[in-house]
Amino acid sequence: MIANSRMDAFRSRIGGFAFGGDYNPEQWDRSVWDEDVALMKRAGVNLVTLGVFAWASLEPEPGRFTFGWLDEVMDLLHAGGISVDLATPTAAPPVWLTHGHPEVHPVMEDGETFGFGNRLHFDPTSPRYREHAARITRALAERYAHHPALAMWHIGNEYGPTPYTPQSAVAFRAWLRRRYGTLDALNDAWYTRFWSQVYTDWEQVNPPEIPRSWSNPTRRLDYKRFVSDALLECFVAERDIVRSCRDDIPVLTNYMRFYRHADYWRWAPEQDAVALDIYPDPGQPDSRVAAALNFDLMRSLRGEPWILMEQAASAVSQWKVNNVKRPGLMRLGSYQAIAHGSDSVLYFQWRAGRGGHERFHSAMLPHSGTRSRTWREIEELGGELPRIAEAVGSSSTAEIAVLFDWDAWWGLTETHGLPRNDFDYPGVVTDHYRPLLQAHHAVDMVGYGSCLDGYRIVVVPNAYLVDDRFTEELTRFVRGGGTLVCSFFSGVVDAANQVRRPAYPGAFRELIGAHVDEYWPAREGESFGIGFADGGTGRADWWQDSIHPETAEVAAWYTTGLLGGRPAILRNSFGAGRVHYLGTRPDAGTLARVLLGAVAGAGVRPLLEGAPAEVEATVRSGADARYLFLLNHSETGPAGVPLPAAGVDLVSGAGADGTLTLPPLGVAVLRIPLPGSGAAPAGSAAT
Ligand code: GLA
Repeated sequence: MIANSRMDAFRSRIGGFAFGGDYNPEQWDRSVWDEDVALMKRAGVNLVTLGVFAWASLEPEPGRFTFGWLDEVMDLLHAGGISVDLATPTAAPPVWLTHGHPEVHPVMEDGETFGFGNRLHFDPTSPRYREHAARITRALAERYAHHPALAMWHIGNEYGPTPYTPQSAVAFRAWLRRRYGTLDALNDAWYTRFWSQVYTDWEQVNPPEIPRSWSNPTRRLDYKRFVSDALLECFVAERDIVRSCRDDIPVLTNYMRFYRHADYWRWAPEQDAVALDIYPDPGQPDSRVAAALNFDLMRSLRGEPWILMEQAASAVSQWKVNNVKRPGLMRLGSYQAIAHGSDSVLYFQWRAGRGGHERFHSAMLPHSGTRSRTWREIEELGGELPRIAEAVGSSSTAEIAVLFDWDAWWGLTETHGLPRNDFDYPGVVTDHYRPLLQAHHAVDMVGYGSCLDGYRIVVVPNAYLVDDRFTEELTRFVRGGGTLVCSFFSGVVDAANQVRRPAYPGAFRELIGAHVDEYWPAREGESFGIGFADGGTGRADWWQDSIHPETAEVAAWYTTGLLGGRPAILRNSFGAGRVHYLGTRPDAGTLARVLLGAVAGAGVRPLLEGAPAEVEATVRSGADARYLFLLNHSETGPAGVPLPAAGVDLVSGAGADGTLTLPPLGVAVLRIPLPGSGAAPAGSAAT
């Protein structure tokens, strides 16, 4: 783990898991604030995020600041023993800024101006926006830097809009000049002799014309990279201002689940901790899988514990039907985040608002007040989390890594002109992650810049675009004895989105030990039988590689269709390592068979043996003990979990050995002392 003194200071100040949420006192009369603080104390709240969208209340006119109310709220919270994550309010520019300077508004992909009345209605490349954002940030930071309630800086909120404005064109050109240096290099990278697109002057280069979907694919790709960097510049500018006023506390912003527009591998090193907002759909039980993946991604981005910045106490208000979280589900989801490395359980929001778009969004304190199920569950969880406080700051390790990279995503889904153009990259990665989660394996996520040392197996799903650095790292990894599971249409193009030569799949041809002469997307409704050498069978659909083994052996063949008798799944030896290649999209059972077979072949053991798939298991390791998190996602049935070691369930306080039974939606956090740390329970076989 990287040394992180600011987060260490934060953890020791909070003294356990941070618990609380977004607090918007500016939406309420002063008379409510005392009750808020009293109820926060009752619920065990120790951290609130203040001021996220309060710009209009803090600076009602340009340069006139009204901090009085915030002074009072900060003092009240401090008196109540509650720490503050103080936000810069720059995600929602006030109307005086946008009305006075319409160029602050972004123009969106479809050419429409994103007008006033929502939030995130700013163009991150607008110098005017940046100037005003810097001014409110400085004023806020200078005033509160040394307030005793201050524990953390929160910059903006869920950075987002992708602008297509004249000023973003200027910024794009500057970004391209930094990337390519010369127009010749840009023309080469963008392959501009195609359709006579050669540029002869930088001024001719513009953002992609999105509605005409057949625009230059490398320009589109670079635009995604550029926008992510432009948003990051906004974060960094505000971060540097708050740090110049106080630099011993963490600075961060909050990310979103599977968020397409910001490359979080580039963002994460710029902040002191990664933070995530997550809203798994309670109407979709399988949404817990994508939640777990996102949690693992957050932990992996910096290789350390992260902050769950927002979740819902119950229903959200942004979907067509907003289901409630049934009793126990909010608690389970909170432990799930902790299990995957979060050091907090925070919500949007503390008190349910009476108006505005989110008036029916749940809150820790709902409209119905303390006589409500949600409040009871919040109060119970707030009372329970201190029991596991010793696990805060503990780390996790994994021997399996799954690739999740934004360049891979953008190449596959943003640039058109592929053999098929309906890839769902997060869906594909989730499909490869699900069997590992259900088989109780610890998993890290990696990106193209990650070092693969320490892993035994790396899973690379549909990585169409790969850069040379990752290709080299992966090759080194396999040559040195690692195992790779790679799925079709991977390694095909380079970082400039140009087809690698001399044959598909360029970057991975030697690793896979085969070449592909044609990609055969399946026809609507078409599926194929596949058969393994041991007589096992399965089905596949969506895609077929017409593949020709070179050094690889065939693990499974198509048994039907035009490619009947030809290879579907390959195995190759490369250096001291092994490669499993899926030339098609197998059904879930077949995918699990290949993945789990490869995992077992690589010598990776699951965290649990013999537990049902609905039980999720993770381990966090502290100085004296390991913490085995066990979560039963079944809403209806109890689950018997054969324990790998004896320990004490910190949640119930009971000792556990043999088989532990979890009730539906039940949770246990088993403390297993490390050998030599004393007090190992009798019969402990902790490994
Ligand atoms: C996001 C935002 C919050 C709120 C919630 C609603 O996470 O950061 O301000 O809008 O969504 O679910």
